[in-house]
Amino acid sequence: MTAVSEAHPYDIAVIGAGYVGMPHAQTFAEAGKRVVLVDVVPSVVEAINRGESHIKDVPSETLKPLVESGAISATTDFSSVRDAAAIVIAVPTPLSPQREPDLSYIERAARDLAPHLRPGHLVVLESTTYPGTTRDVLKPLLEEGSGLKAGADFHLAFAPERVDPGRTDFTTRTTPKVVGGIDTASTEAAAALYRAAVDHVHTVSTAEAAELTKLLENIYRAVNIALVNELAQLCDRMEIDVWEVVEAAATKPFGFTSFKPGPGLGGHCIPLDPYYLAWKAREFDFNTRFVELAGEINNNMPYFCRSLISQALNHGAGKSVSGSKILVIGVAYKPDIDDVRESPAEKLIHLLRNAGAEVSYHDPHVPEFDGMTSAPLEPEAYDCVAIVTNHSSIDYGDVVRRGHVIVDFRNATKGHEIGGKVWKL
Ligand SMILES: NC(=O)c1ccc[n+]([C@@H]2O[C@H](COP(=O)([O-])OP(=O)(O)OC[C@H]3O[C@@H](n4cnc5c(N)ncnc54)[C@H](O)[C@@H]3O)[C@@H](O)[C@H]2O)c1
Repeated sequence: MTAVSEAHPYDIAVIGAGYVGMPHAQTFAEAGKRVVLVDVVPSVVEAINRGESHIKDVPSETLKPLVESGAISATTDFSSVRDAAAIVIAVPTPLSPQREPDLSYIERAARDLAPHLRPGHLVVLESTTYPGTTRDVLKPLLEEGSGLKAGADFHLAFAPERVDPGRTDFTTRTTPKVVGGIDTASTEAAAALYRAAVDHVHTVSTAEAAELTKLLENIYRAVNIALVNELAQLCDRMEIDVWEVVEAAATKPFGFTSFKPGPGLGGHCIPLDPYYLAWKAREFDFNTRFVELAGEINNNMPYFCRSLISQALNHGAGKSVSGSKILVIGVAYKPDIDDVRESPAEKLIHLLRNAGAEVSYHDPHVPEFDGMTSAPLEPEAYDCVAIVTNHSSIDYGDVVRRGHVIVDFRNATKGHEIGGKVWKL
């Protein structure tokens, strides 16, 4: 088998130029590697080749010089992978409407790249998925389409992505990378690839262990968020401020990690990934009860938040949800980003509309959402303002001063709770 370091026009081909693929391309390019991004959307490819980025974490000012120097290029042509030493797959892994894993993006990418595999290639899957995907789903597709044998002719590994959109204290380079191959040689080849661009690489013994590592990380978050969301609902009945309790518990320097309650889970990972494990576990006659319970509590939060808005309008303004004008502040799934995937705002807005409310939204990062355009921030023009995502550019003191009834699901109004106008989760 030829070494990964053998000279090729590209060092790495990244399949999927999204939230994960783009920071990856940047990290490898900045480490002196030549990267080709392969995507199925021609407009995305054309924009990248003009140096224009559609991913906020990789601004165009960063991308452009890397494209101009030839370090990054993009294509829709899968035959380019032949010219790369290693191939990294970072395509979506959503759920079906029945909350079952949808591996169709991985399968399509595998079928498209397989004819261009050659002896000596390293293929690494980064998309979040259940244990066994790399070996049982990806490997047969690659072998069938290439006529090559994984392990004997090409290396195959899983290395979960840990991108956290909007985070600036850790980057792809400084976030440790977990790597596990279908055999020892594959683990070593993948570890060597990442060591060239990432500060710390942690190897595990199998691809399955690496796949489960990623799911554990996300399930840990989902379960702990569910715990504080349940506590928030109890605190509402007991008239205790859950935010004060979480903040106080977080002063313990050991044995406690702080998670915040909120209107529900959002993003491409935490709301979806745990179900990948729950689905796979059923094959082993096993129920992942923590996953199911956390999902139940977190999925109920938009309904609980609707009832809080209803109470606030009732007690604060003598109004019902039906016929009220409600402004939702923040529709991205977390502060200071433009990503609306799985955002709890969408569910809440639909629930409020179904209850007869006239809903508008304001989000400085999201100009259009759910058939609406972002409204000006005029709290005084609404019966109720609901703070769903606490973007840092908004002056919440001003929102409280100008608004009539404020319902705050993020503790954004802390310190501005004037005159009993604010109702908090
Ligand atoms: N977004 C995150 O914060 C994050 C974090 C960690 C892990 N992940 C995981 O990484 C994977 C990718 O997520 P993402 O957020 O980058 O998705 P994304 O939707 O932002 O990007 C995926 C890209 O892949 C392209 N694509 C789809 N099918 C393709 C195919 N067959 N061939 C080539 N390109 C194809 C799409 O056009 C898109 O540009 C998922 O499994 C996700 O769970 C995401």
